[in-house]
Amino acid sequence: MKPTFTLLTALLLAPLAMLHAADIAVSSLDLKLAANSTGYRATANSSNVGKPITLGGVNYANGLGSHSRFRLAIDCHGMAKRFTATVGVNDAGSKQYDNVVFRVEGDGKKLWMSPVMKVGDAPLPIDVDLTGVNQLVLWLRCGELPGGGADGPGDWANATITYEGEAPVAVDSVLPRKILTPPEALTPRINGARVYGARPGNPFLFYVPVTGARPMKVTASGLPNGLILDSASGIITGTTPAAGTYEVKLTATNARGSDTRELQIVSGETLALTPPMGFNSWNGFSRKVTQEIMLTQAEAMASSGLRDHGYAYVNIDDFWEVQNKADWDVKLHGAERDEQGRINSNARFPDMPGLTAAIHKLGLKAGIYSTPGPTTCGGCVGSWQHEEKDAQRFSDWGFDYLKYDWCSYNTVVQGKYEDKPYAMKPYAQMGELLRKQKRDIVYSLCQYGMANVWEWAAEVGGNTWRTTHDIGDSWGSMAGIGFKQGGHEAFVKPGCWNDPDMMVAGNMGYRNTNLDDDEQYTHVSLWSLLAAPLLLGCDMRQMDEFTHNVLCNDEVIEVNQDPLGRMASRIATHGETQVWAKPMSDGSMAVGLFNLGDETVSVSTTWNELKLTGPQQVRDLWRQKDLGKQAGGFTADIPRHGCMLIRLFLAKQ
Ligand code: GAL
Repeated sequence: MKPTFTLLTALLLAPLAMLHAADIAVSSLDLKLAANSTGYRATANSSNVGKPITLGGVNYANGLGSHSRFRLAIDCHGMAKRFTATVGVNDAGSKQYDNVVFRVEGDGKKLWMSPVMKVGDAPLPIDVDLTGVNQLVLWLRCGELPGGGADGPGDWANATITYEGEAPVAVDSVLPRKILTPPEALTPRINGARVYGARPGNPFLFYVPVTGARPMKVTASGLPNGLILDSASGIITGTTPAAGTYEVKLTATNARGSDTRELQIVSGETLALTPPMGFNSWNGFSRKVTQEIMLTQAEAMASSGLRDHGYAYVNIDDFWEVQNKADWDVKLHGAERDEQGRINSNARFPDMPGLTAAIHKLGLKAGIYSTPGPTTCGGCVGSWQHEEKDAQRFSDWGFDYLKYDWCSYNTVVQGKYEDKPYAMKPYAQMGELLRKQKRDIVYSLCQYGMANVWEWAAEVGGNTWRTTHDIGDSWGSMAGIGFKQGGHEAFVKPGCWNDPDMMVAGNMGYRNTNLDDDEQYTHVSLWSLLAAPLLLGCDMRQMDEFTHNVLCNDEVIEVNQDPLGRMASRIATHGETQVWAKPMSDGSMAVGLFNLGDETVSVSTTWNELKLTGPQQVRDLWRQKDLGKQAGGFTADIPRHGCMLIRLFLAKQ
């Protein structure tokens, strides 16, 4: 048999041996099969920004234009020999923002990867051996540098595959989404904060977040006098009772079962006893925000189920105010204030009290934005010299949250940014005014971390303080901000939260986030460990399954909302991996293992470095799965830019 088989094989292979090498331009493949970031398509023989392929002043007639999150998978049938190209960022890109990484993979392994490239960098030649490779993948990512944008036209000039035999073909290049959170149970589960702070005598509003099949009935025992729970809607309203701590037992019941949980209502001075969770209009809608958008976002927060995981604040950012300078939208024009000096909303927000009432009816809270300067960062009317009237106005309109953004303050009051009294003054003034209102108004300081704001934010009544300039939806920006937050732990406690800026997960209103799935897990895990406000920047009307999974994992949110209110610390850095740990109120420890590098690596932590003694039960929070008892540590393989979030409970010996 053997000689016959060998002969047959030789006969079959003979035609291949006679094959000649041929070249195929990647631009001639079916580029419709490539994966791209929303709004972009891979282009043949031109850049992705509608310009010729021009790198370092040289024009290339042939090649491939690609943009953020481009991925093209090519079936080479194991018959390709080489891949060659010259890559770089198109000369038409933004010198200031664009930064791009090119990568070539063969059957899942890295064959070539560029450093981060910017406009004007010398183009790099690629020449890789493809012998034996079945699937070739070309991919590109933008925004890997901190502070950089998430765009950038990356060109693959003269991209060519040399092959013998069957010609390579493009195949569907869209990767399946990585959904880790198990589906929500139909049985009731009460979620969100376990402790809630409100001020005595002020209006009280709290929605009990519950997942499970509807109809759902929510009941409470131990509710103090003055508060009423509507069993059908799950909304508690009334007037906050006298100062004190009230232990309330909540029960949610549906046709399939019931769940019970304690809610501690703390009537006192401190608001935001857990980090605020909600939505802010800036990342998704920026200058285009309207009353209609805010209302539909609030409705979507309820209907998408986000509300049942604890998301509650619906915050308008800039551009609700009048802006007479811009001539691109007359709807922003108008009288800045009324005859009594009260600030007016612009024509896009015809009825502020109506808007907040509609938001409150859903059991949600409403937020607004202003600046101590004369104009906001968007050039709209600010609170300068009208602080008292504005605080009163925000309260009268029914707002529950104020983001107060430094913006133009330094144009009217000069000083050194690092001078604490200078930086504190306008925030102390507004803090005092908010405190005088007959409403609970959470106070969010936005001055990008000047004068070590974390050291004094609590003193001026601040509940949250931004630590950096604006976040963008790129790895460079998100990770650049998130992993720099260590060192502020001593200042974080219930009512006082370090704010590394809003979330950039999900659909950003005009396109999907540029963060890939692993990067979004890292983002939400890190923000949860950091006890940061979870303020979504995505369009909640467009929640896909992945976004829901990454924003609505109750075991992850529990890390963020833990009543102890501690912020995680960086415990270890090994090469491009980091371990962060957050002590939890029940004595357990939430631990994030992060891989900031480009290749999958094994990341470890030990109970020793976490200062834990005894064996630990390990729970995988994203998968909501017990991983068993571990004697002295834990190790996991973590993909590029990905993470593992675990919770450790002391195990019985
Ligand atoms: C920036 C602030 C952003 C957004 C914007 C509005 O200063 O950091 O979060 O509020 O102003 O103009």
